[in-house]
Amino acid sequence: MADEQHHGHFVGPGAQRYYAESADRLADQYESLGFEDAHQAFLPLLPPSPATAADIGAGTGRDAAALAARGYAVTAVEPVRQLRQVARRLHPDPSIVWLADSLPTLSRLRGPFDLILLSAVWMHLDEAERARAVVRLHELLAPAGHLLLSLRHGPPPTDRRMFDVSDEETITLAAGTGLRLVHRTSGSGDRLGRSHVRWSSLAFAR
Ligand SMILES: C[S@@+](CC[C@H](N)C(=O)[O-])C[C@H]1O[C@@H](n2cnc3c(N)ncnc32)[C@H](O)[C@@H]1O
Repeated sequence: MADEQHHGHFVGPGAQRYYAESADRLADQYESLGFEDAHQAFLPLLPPSPATAADIGAGTGRDAAALAARGYAVTAVEPVRQLRQVARRLHPDPSIVWLADSLPTLSRLRGPFDLILLSAVWMHLDEAERARAVVRLHELLAPAGHLLLSLRHGPPPTDRRMFDVSDEETITLAAGTGLRLVHRTSGSGDRLGRSHVRWSSLAFAR
């Protein structure tokens, strides 16, 4: 299928280049985890099927494919063309629609979604982008929809644009749009074994 290059301004040249150059290697890493292992905390919050889901910053498509297998109509948003190509190859599920778009504006994405997942993506946005993104994500959620975020904590690497974002800031930003925190798990170890990295899982309801 034809694919288009999306010049994701907000991905930042550093992150975009890193993900583009490392797409094949990252596929091995990301796909070594299962959706159920990576997102155990979110499983009780998944809506009954049929439902609409958006996986934002979908990477190599692990989570998009798992959500599609659960019967959801999935839109997988990924700004980096090389990752979209790898993802389509690994997960040729016709029920996943791939979209070249990026936070914070997500100007091409059309909601509403019962479920929006951002797995290991939020840390790529700076403070101003996070404030804009949360407003846009709220707008894209269906009335009873859930927004699920996994946040990376620990010293940011130097080879890509990344920030260490606190749970508290994220909860406050979300509350400002009316999103209610319905689940929080903090301090989970890194499933890829990096001792300096911790994760939290935040779930919000509209
Ligand atoms: C650490 S990877 C996580 C991939 C996947 N969600 C997972 O959990 O395996 C971060 C992803 O966020 C994407 N990304 C970075 N900046 C983004 C932005 N501004 N908007 C949307 N996605 C972005 C990257 O291209 C990459 O696919």
